[in-house]
Amino acid sequence: MASERIAIYPGSFDPLHNGHVDLIQRGSRLFDRIVVAILLNIEKAPLFTVQERVEIAREVFDAYPNVEVDTFDGLLVEYARRKQASAIVRGLRAVSDFEYEMQMALMNRNLNPAVETVFMMPSETYTYVSSRIVKEVVALGGSVTNLVPKLVDSRLREKRLGRQTLRA
Ligand code: PNS
Repeated sequence: MASERIAIYPGSFDPLHNGHVDLIQRGSRLFDRIVVAILLNIEKAPLFTVQERVEIAREVFDAYPNVEVDTFDGLLVEYARRKQASAIVRGLRAVSDFEYEMQMALMNRNLNPAVETVFMMPSETYTYVSSRIVKEVVALGGSVTNLVPKLVDSRLREKRLGRQTLRA
């Protein structure tokens, strides 16, 4: 459909947490289609492989027909053009996110003025949640059960147990 409003929600999603889920749900109500685009970043050492992150996001959003999960590399605006997307969705949790997000949004606009960045706020319940802090808490033996989807929680436990077994 040529008039479909398509948005890209890009990120690392390592791992997907409830703040992401909240934003994707909001985006799925606002746009005809929202593409969760997982960055293929070979330089980072992720906890979950890209394949694992794709599987998790696909399973979590299985019941959402207008949520697509994909991977991308290279320039985000080029990927958005290929997907015929008119918007990039990003979450703003706090003022501390603003500088980095503004820089990316303005650079993306400079590269392709046809793609608009749309900022959305997750539910206040998740304003302090980030993938980095989730990983840190899990690595130190804490619980993140109420902050991530059930599937992510069990995968995090598996990773932790796997590491303990390896060390034993
Ligand atoms: O989850 P993250 O790490 O905050 O996501 C960052 C992401 C993937 C949105 C950003 O790194 C990105 O868009 N990378 C693609 C490369 C690109 O287009 N760079 C120029 C725009 S700043």
